[in-house]
Order: sequence, then C-alpha cells, then structure tokens
Amino acid sequence: MNPMQTIYNHAKTVSIFQQLCSRFNSVQGFLSQLEGFALYLLATMGPGQGEVVEIGSYKGLSTCWIAEGLKASNREQVTAVDHFEGSDEHSDEEKKDLLEIFLANISEQGLNDYVIPTKMSSENAVQKWHENGAKPIRLLFIDGDHSYEGVKKDFNLWSELLIESGIVCFHDYQSKGYPGVTRFVDELLVHSSRYGDVMNANALKVIQIINGNHHVD
Ligand SMILES: C[S@@+](CC[C@H](N)C(=O)[O-])C[C@H]1O[C@@H](n2cnc3c(N)ncnc32)[C@H](O)[C@@H]1O
Repeated sequence: MNPMQTIYNHAKTVSIFQQLCSRFNSVQGFLSQLEGFALYLLATMGPGQGEVVEIGSYKGLSTCWIAEGLKASNREQVTAVDHFEGSDEHSDEEKKDLLEIFLANISEQGLNDYVIPTKMSSENAVQKWHENGAKPIRLLFIDGDHSYEGVKKDFNLWSELLIESGIVCFHDYQSKGYPGVTRFVDELLVHSSRYGDVMNANALKVIQIINGNHHVD
C-alpha cells in the first residue's frame, strides 16, 4: 500500500478512537478506553459470522463500545446479558438502578438498534439461547462473575456455541483483586490446544479457537 495511504489510515483510526473516547466519557463503567477500543475493533472487523454476546454489561460502557463497532460495520446486534443486580465487589450505590441507567445510556448513544438487553443471569440466558435455536457466536465477552468458578462456568456454558474461528474476551485478566480470572485463563491456555492467545489490551485478554470447541473440566 502507498505509504501515505497507510499514514492516513493510522491517523483515521486514532481520530475514531479519540471521538469514541469523548463520546463514551459520560458512561460509567469498569473498562479502560484501550480495552473499549479493542472490543470496538473486534466487533467491527472480527472474523466469521455469528452472534455477539456480552456477559456482564453493568451500566453499558463495554456494550456501547461493542455496539458502536457493530453499527460502524453494519453487522449483528450484541446480546447484553446481565441480571443487573451488580456483583459482590460493588457497593450499594454502584448497584442502584443498573437496568434503568443501562437502558438510558444505550439510548443516549443512539445504539438501541444494535443492543438486545437481556435481564437474566448468565445461566438462564444460555438456557434460553439453546431453547431459541442455539445460534452460533463469533464474539463472546466475559465480564460477569469474576470468581474462578464464575468465569469457568460462564466460559463452559457459552463457549460450546462459538464458531470455528470464535473469539473470547475476558476482562480483568491479571487485574489486582481478580485472581480467579487470571487463573482460569492461564489454565485454559495451558491445558487446551484448541485456543490460541491472540492479545492483551490492558486487562482484556483475547483468545481464539484455533482447533474446534473445548470444554474445561
Ligand atoms: C464488572 S461489571 C461489568 C462491567 C461492564 N462490562 C463495563 O463495561 O462497565 C459485572 C456485571 O456482571 C453482572 N453479573 C455478575 N454475575 C452475573 C451472572 N451470573 N449473570 C449475569 N450477570 C452477572 C453484574 O450485575 C455486573 O453488572
């Protein structure tokens, strides 16, 4: 490619990043801008065809980044699964009015058409997903229960639905306070030849199926 075109493309990417950072600045959440942009890029340009599922939406920050990527590329909607009761690590204040705030944020950002709010536990949502035809998933973002058992359960419940080149993102990998996430992901990468380590963006760990599906016991 022409070097000037390459320079222009890089500058354009940075400009999109800056615009989105300032847009989503008003949405409260637990996600860095780089992590959000990595999700945006995966939503926009990620491989394969299939559904996009998020476990753990909170007030919608990660949902906005993903949905904006889907909108930019005119791709699928994101199914945003959360019981909207908050997690153990959240204060009472942080757990207040989660669903209402989530819906308001998605609406204010003009992303209603790209988000399917799903007020349900991950366990109930996956059961419903199977009842509704078990549509294959191309991108799965796990940011719900951060305990070792919780991350493992979410992964095992949803990963069997991934397409062949399916991508899984885990949030809070190598984050202080969430050793269970790191332990589960490290064990998965060591014990399974089916997943390849794609990248880290701050505390976002991205892995991809390189050899069919896998269940971790
Ligand atoms: C760390 S927050 C998610 C942060 C969000 N992704 C963001 O960008 O700010 C974790 C969320 O997971 C939800 N959650 C925890 N366990 C869950 C479960 N078993 N099923 C569904 N949602 C769950 C909580 O209600 C909480 O909103």
